[in-house]
Amino acid sequence: MIDKIKEQIAEVSSFTTDNLDAVEAFRIKYLGKKGVLNDFFAEFKNVPNEQKKEFGQTINQLKQAATEKVELLKQALEQNASEEKLFGDLTRPGNPTELGARHPISIVKNKIIDIFSRIGFNVSEGPEIEDDWHNFTALNLPEYHPARDMQDTFFVQTNPDILLRTHTSSVQVRYMENNKPPIRTISPGRVYRNEAISARSHCFFHQVEGLYIDKDVSFADLKQTLQYFTTELFGKSKIRLRPSYFPFTEPSAEVDVYWGLETETDYKMTKGTGWLEIMGCGMVDPNVLKNCNIDPEIYSGFAFGMGIDRIALLLHQISDIRLLSENDIRFLEQFKSSL
Ligand code: DAH
Repeated sequence: MIDKIKEQIAEVSSFTTDNLDAVEAFRIKYLGKKGVLNDFFAEFKNVPNEQKKEFGQTINQLKQAATEKVELLKQALEQNASEEKLFGDLTRPGNPTELGARHPISIVKNKIIDIFSRIGFNVSEGPEIEDDWHNFTALNLPEYHPARDMQDTFFVQTNPDILLRTHTSSVQVRYMENNKPPIRTISPGRVYRNEAISARSHCFFHQVEGLYIDKDVSFADLKQTLQYFTTELFGKSKIRLRPSYFPFTEPSAEVDVYWGLETETDYKMTKGTGWLEIMGCGMVDPNVLKNCNIDPEIYSGFAFGMGIDRIALLLHQISDIRLLSENDIRFLEQFKSSL
């Protein structure tokens, strides 16, 4: 008889279900009025006296096991039910969350910042709505200077002193006014020019300006820095500096990188020359240093400026600059795998 009870105990402890009706059936089977337990209790009077103690204890074990099991299963089912109320069906398939993509301008900008930060350049920024001093005059472009026509300017309302900056060179001026050499900074940002919009040019675009001021900075330092930069960004180290003119640098140069002429695209991009123009640069004009309270007798430096949009078009083979500001999701989605 005791063995029978023990069998029942084993059965009770291995029982499991996730159905509330089955729990109730289980309860009735063991603990109900006509249940297994009562049957055993009814046997009690027939058990020989010397076995009564063990028999009683075993029945109690069975009772305890069955009562605990019912409690446990009920609790588990109630918890599941309340979780389901809170979170819904936990086994349903997840919502596919779309992965975002960085804008190609941000991708290229971040790459440029990363490359220059590795050689000690910090990042500085300035306002897009500028005054005449920071955008022109301090950069050695006094009023009526013909070189002001190189950049067709948007003025704000009728005040000729307030304008949308035409280049990030304005940030050079602000940085020099507020910091003492040695200076090593790059300034990314959006600029505006009153130009007809086409596949190749827009009335707003993005530039990165670079500025390095210290004692004994030479043109050779400039060339080394640019060579490091083009190697890191394009994987191309062959560059050439063509003499050019900017009012804020003397001497000034235009930087071309040798792209090569291996594919038809190379041919198209470089107009058959193999060379691509990527930026302007030069040694900071002593007048500009003076305007920013830096003594040109003690310090010298170089500066450079490049267009981010053009580089993004190049690196990602984008055919029309307008795509960069149209926010067409089908275009933007294509940059998911980029950095
Ligand atoms: N500001 C010039 C432009 O927008 C680019 C430039 C050229 C910046 C030479 C410089 C520089 O700092 O040294 O066309």
